[in-house]
Amino acid sequence: MPDAKPRLTVIDTDPGIDDAVGILLALASPEFSIAGMTTVAGNIGIETTTRNAGRLLAFAGQEGIPVFRGAAAPLSRPGPEPLNLHGEDGIGGVNLPEPSRQPESRTAVQWLADLLLHEPAGTVDIFALGPLTNIAKLILDRPDAARRIGRIIAMGGVIREAGNVGPRSEFNLWADPEAADVVVSSGLSLVLVPLDVTRRVRATRDFAEALRAPAKPLASMVADLVESYFETKTHQESRPLHDPCVMLFALAPELFRLKDLRLSVNTGPAEEAGALTIEESGTSVQVALGVDGPAALELLARKLTAV
Ligand code: BDR
Ligand code: CA
Repeated sequence: MPDAKPRLTVIDTDPGIDDAVGILLALASPEFSIAGMTTVAGNIGIETTTRNAGRLLAFAGQEGIPVFRGAAAPLSRPGPEPLNLHGEDGIGGVNLPEPSRQPESRTAVQWLADLLLHEPAGTVDIFALGPLTNIAKLILDRPDAARRIGRIIAMGGVIREAGNVGPRSEFNLWADPEAADVVVSSGLSLVLVPLDVTRRVRATRDFAEALRAPAKPLASMVADLVESYFETKTHQESRPLHDPCVMLFALAPELFRLKDLRLSVNTGPAEEAGALTIEESGTSVQVALGVDGPAALELLARKLTAV
């Protein structure tokens, strides 16, 4: 969408290594005008995800973008124990500056409501990269504002494959299944980008080296993030770039195959929590079921090395 007006966009996030890659991609993309970032506990606790959001903005020289602290725990069940999925600092130990701007005093939900009521209806999109707690609270507490959202594009869930935290559960939906249920059943415009797609957009050692080659600061930072991702959890050198798929979908929907599915979210206990079921009584959601992985990676590299 080269000549289109930038879309006013909020990034709701729990950075998170793959969140960080997605955030840097969004900040490097003139197609988006980032109104602010809202944070949520997920990959790590709220203080760390909030700090990391500020550190990424400081690194990108974009501290004019405000950060709003969001939910520290799920809507209605005890939070999962901090999993520290992406290292002790949530971001793989990469070298990011400390923010000079503090998070704002308004909460994520207060600010989202104010923003949505201030801007023309339908003009603010949300990129949701973590558990859906903030967006669910907005829907529950401020439906007048929530109904003005343009579109939510959320990384979450799994449709036809195995989950990554339970047999059928993906982390973001599993971490707060009640919130996921509120968002999915809200009827708001929602595109879900599940593991079925994000597992096909993989960062490899070759990808990291290609990013590093032009010696551009942003692309080199993403190469650092990708290499730190290799060190976490599985020590694999091919890791799915889950959250950047949200931005890649917004930039190039033609690279993805979308299907309308009627979905419901399992809010039961433990290992089935967050699982998605396709059923007649579910809510109609647009779901990305396929992607041209190499083309998506190529687009990511092109955007990151262009700045
Ligand atoms: C999702 O869980 C988190 O660990 C990632 O940041 C991503 O948002 C993948 O299941
Ligand atoms: Ca995330």
